[in-house]
Amino acid sequence: MTSPLHHPRLRILGIETSCDDTAAAVLHGKQILANIVSSQDAIHRPYGGVVPELASRHHLRNILPIVDQALKTAEMRLDQLDGIAVTNGPGLIGSLLVGVSVAKAIAVAADLPLIGVNHLEGHLLAVQLEHEVSFPFLCLLVSGGHTSLYLARGRGEYELLGATRDDAAGEAFDKGAKMLGLGYPGGRVIDQLACGGNPAAIRFPRAHVKAGQYDFSFSGLKTALRQFLYGQEVSLYRLEDIAASYQEAIVDMLVERTLHAARQLHIQRVVVSGGVSANSRLRFRFRAAGEEQGLEVYMPSLKLCTDNAAMIAFAGAWRLACGQRSAWDLGAFATLRL
Ligand code: KG4
Ligand code: ZN
Repeated sequence: MTSPLHHPRLRILGIETSCDDTAAAVLHGKQILANIVSSQDAIHRPYGGVVPELASRHHLRNILPIVDQALKTAEMRLDQLDGIAVTNGPGLIGSLLVGVSVAKAIAVAADLPLIGVNHLEGHLLAVQLEHEVSFPFLCLLVSGGHTSLYLARGRGEYELLGATRDDAAGEAFDKGAKMLGLGYPGGRVIDQLACGGNPAAIRFPRAHVKAGQYDFSFSGLKTALRQFLYGQEVSLYRLEDIAASYQEAIVDMLVERTLHAARQLHIQRVVVSGGVSANSRLRFRFRAAGEEQGLEVYMPSLKLCTDNAAMIAFAGAWRLACGQRSAWDLGAFATLRL
């Protein structure tokens, strides 16, 4: 299948509460009429990571005002919508349940069809909101919870080629930032700091996986950073250089493995998505490699890289248009395969 993603012009409310961001969006076809994200970063920062119980409590407090704000921004009433799409996995179970329960209640009250969306499909298709990317394409999905490489053959036809064997790339950023005393969430901070550093200052190890395999591993890199920070040499380097070198090791592994898969499978199009695809060095390196090797590389704009409900509304819309519906007993699942 090589056609681009033709998209039905449905009016969809999207709801996303899989982790710590409370998000609601309204789409009309591919037009984003509202895309509201309420971040809980400040709440989880003192703990250095997401505290699940706090996340679900704050979703409960925020979700209705955020849905209301999305509808107001879009100038849309519930009776003008064609359906509701909600993330029902994977993610933190308490957080997911808030979004799923609210989506069900609104759908019943407004007599609207409901569709549960896999969060990963949201990330995988997000780029289609801005670019016409024909199938098949490779998708590197890099977020706080996932680092996976998919071959997308068509809508709903995704083959998992490889995944991380330990930490996700986002976790490697966040844990690295914690070790460097840079606070939470760490990906964006390392990115900013690394802009002023030398990526070749320190040669951190890159995990190598056998040819023909597309898995990733970041735990060795994390250990190497810890050992480096306890060592004698650390005083010789600026924090910017350490951040840039650590980031470079993560980026190297992601770019190298993805391009290896593209070459082996003879795929011309590569999509990079998920929170880590907001990383400026990763974007630069993928663009450069794409130009060098004649590949088409697509990445969503920054607002669509990290968690948002526009991508959920978008992924749900074509399923609704195909006649798919979720039943009122739609469940939430902490683990859910794509
Ligand atoms: O997709 P996302 O918002 O949530 C999940 O589904 O996990 O991804 C969040 C992850 C976090 O680990 C965060 O540190 C990372 O994306 N991240 C970044 C950047 N912005 C967000 N990592 C590196 N550079 C960035 N600019
Ligand atoms: Zn995500």
